[in-house]
Amino acid sequence: MADAKLIDGKAFAGGLRQRVGAGVADLIAKGGPKPGLATVLVGADPASQVYVRSKGKLAVELGMASFDHQLPENTTEAELLAVVAQLNADPTVNGILVQLPLPRHIDTAKVLIAIDPAKDVDGFHPVNVGRLGSIAPGAPLDFPVPCTPLGVSMLLQDALGSLSGLNAVIVGRSNLVGRPVAQLLLRADCTVTITHSRTRDLPAVCRQADILVVAIGKTEFVKGGWIKPGAAVVDVGINRIPTPEGKSRLVGDVAFAEAQKVAGYVTPVPGGVGPMTVACLMYNTLQATRRVAG
Ligand code: GUN
Repeated sequence: MADAKLIDGKAFAGGLRQRVGAGVADLIAKGGPKPGLATVLVGADPASQVYVRSKGKLAVELGMASFDHQLPENTTEAELLAVVAQLNADPTVNGILVQLPLPRHIDTAKVLIAIDPAKDVDGFHPVNVGRLGSIAPGAPLDFPVPCTPLGVSMLLQDALGSLSGLNAVIVGRSNLVGRPVAQLLLRADCTVTITHSRTRDLPAVCRQADILVVAIGKTEFVKGGWIKPGAAVVDVGINRIPTPEGKSRLVGDVAFAEAQKVAGYVTPVPGGVGPMTVACLMYNTLQATRRVAG
């Protein structure tokens, strides 16, 4: 069989960013508000600083306002909740992103529930989690949906068209990826199976999948022999491994070279799902602004 087609998430994310930029310009031209994204980072984790900075920079590139709040590691939960309350009340802020993980002395659930659900551009607020969990097939996504899962569903719909009736197997049951991906694919009329570390004969379950989404955080965990010939494989994993030259490189949760020989479609790492997350964050911020603009 010919090698799998690559699902080019980098290219798709570039197109999505352009559409969001055009949407921002259009909203402002029609007298609407300038979308505003607030990011909140507690502590000085270098990787988190890079992520937060790139989100703010992209927001500005797309014509939005960016409000960056960098708080020291020893910020108390009450102080963080006060910042969230201030952002909730600020009409120039349409999206609020509190970068995770938070320091251990802060209760993450308490902070996420304090964010106005209409401004919850991560889609992590229990109200938005519940909306996604109870959505009817094909009903509009008129509330914020977690960015990485939204990106996964966009890539699949772009590659395959209708997903109706396809068997989707998800490896990983996290609240951040596995569960919301399952809800989005159920909404798209897939038959969805969520698997995890206790699943019996995982390779056999995976071999039933027309769509295989892997988000387990284990380097090259899914092997070529687990994949149904022609299936669409979406690899959400980002693992950094050392190279023999003493450097490091990124690999996914799927043994890519093996998958390429069996699958019909496969996402690369890097350049697959990764670039979709921040593009979907921009999309969510524009949509949140459109909803308040009426
Ligand atoms: N940390 C790593 N990924 C994310 C994300 O998508 N949102 C937030 N808020 N924090 C993160």
